[in-house]
Amino acid sequence: MTHLSNVWFKVTDLKVVSGSGCRVRTVDGRDYLDFSSGLATTSTGHAHPRVVSAIQDQAQRFIHAQANVYTHNLLEPLAAKLTKITPPSIDRFFFTNSGAEAVEAAVKLAKQVTRRPNVIVFKGSFHGRTHLGMAMTTSKSIYRAGYAPLPSGVAVAPFPNPLVSDHAGEIKEALKTFDRILKSQSAPSETAAVVLEPVLGEGGYVPAPQAFIEGIVNRCREHGILFIADEVQTGFGRTGRWFALDHYDLDPDILVMGKGIASGFPFAAIGTRQELDEQWPVGSHGGTYGGNPIGCAAALATIEVMSEPGFMKNVNARGVQLRDRLSDLKEHHPGLRQVRGPGLMVATSFRWVDRASAVIDHCRDHGNLILMSAGTNGHVVRWMPPLVVTAEEIDEAVKAFSAALRATET
Ligand SMILES: Cc1ncc(COP(=O)(O)O)c(C=O)c1O
Repeated sequence: MTHLSNVWFKVTDLKVVSGSGCRVRTVDGRDYLDFSSGLATTSTGHAHPRVVSAIQDQAQRFIHAQANVYTHNLLEPLAAKLTKITPPSIDRFFFTNSGAEAVEAAVKLAKQVTRRPNVIVFKGSFHGRTHLGMAMTTSKSIYRAGYAPLPSGVAVAPFPNPLVSDHAGEIKEALKTFDRILKSQSAPSETAAVVLEPVLGEGGYVPAPQAFIEGIVNRCREHGILFIADEVQTGFGRTGRWFALDHYDLDPDILVMGKGIASGFPFAAIGTRQELDEQWPVGSHGGTYGGNPIGCAAALATIEVMSEPGFMKNVNARGVQLRDRLSDLKEHHPGLRQVRGPGLMVATSFRWVDRASAVIDHCRDHGNLILMSAGTNGHVVRWMPPLVVTAEEIDEAVKAFSAALRATET
């Protein structure tokens, strides 16, 4: 008999007591290589000593210093640090506890600034589990089914399919449909924002092509629509740069951050320009815990660790190592259709869903390796190890994956 809710889907039945770096330990003393990273969140690994120490120190001073009542001494330093690492135009920050809340805050800000009611999102995207988050999410129907009515004012545009052979044609078609949405569903004068994940996360680790994002941003600029980048999953080094948009050399109007920002401590943020932030009516948004001092301490320590020389270099080198090794395997296993994704946000896309789930099961049960699926059908095995992963750990994981491919060949 459990007293825990039934609603959590389970990737494993493992009962764990601790984690260190890329590994977790079970109650009966078994170690697993954790490439789920708390859903791409334990960016500096489990219990990074500098993050642990920052949390311990801060807990002795303040567990909670509510942001409406006080301005505690870590808020400005964190905002100043974020100004340095986010795209150039971003210089104002609002803090929340989760990615979904940050998405909600971004859309609320966009509505206040533009005085327009609608947002446009993309097919296969995931933006959270609140009611608006669900309305904006089309990566899987399980996230929405049974929860209607969802908020209105959300139009869904196509996201280019990475598996087609004619990439240019695919991008052209997606932009054409986007234009049709502005003409037929959500007029520019009614569209507050476009919300885009530069790499679809839950939707299957699908990078947006440069020409596609540029086309979308140009249309936003032309029509006074705000461009919101949801970098909850792609941010904080996951793709080998601080933010995925850095690869595209594009500035968003609002940047949504979460997950890796505080190495697993519940913390999230939005960043925007001063000019937009100053149009957000005082008191029209907020929250009890946003900007929590322990979260700020964890985020500051995380940024410090990630700023060290060699940190991003490791992310990129391990990403290349991983993609190279997986691409070699693809040559020998036709069931493996595509290897893609920047940095340590790598997808192995299978032809058949059953094969992807069999591989994940085999890795867990025989290789002590925790991997997860992604994509609408679950046909993608996604690789999102902690960003501190070593070359030896990548080798160990690929070896377990290779064994799983062999064992599940029919
Ligand atoms: C791109 C993206 N946005 C928003 C969210 C929601 O974040 P949270 O689960 O912290 O609410 C997620 C979570 O997976 C995400 O990947």
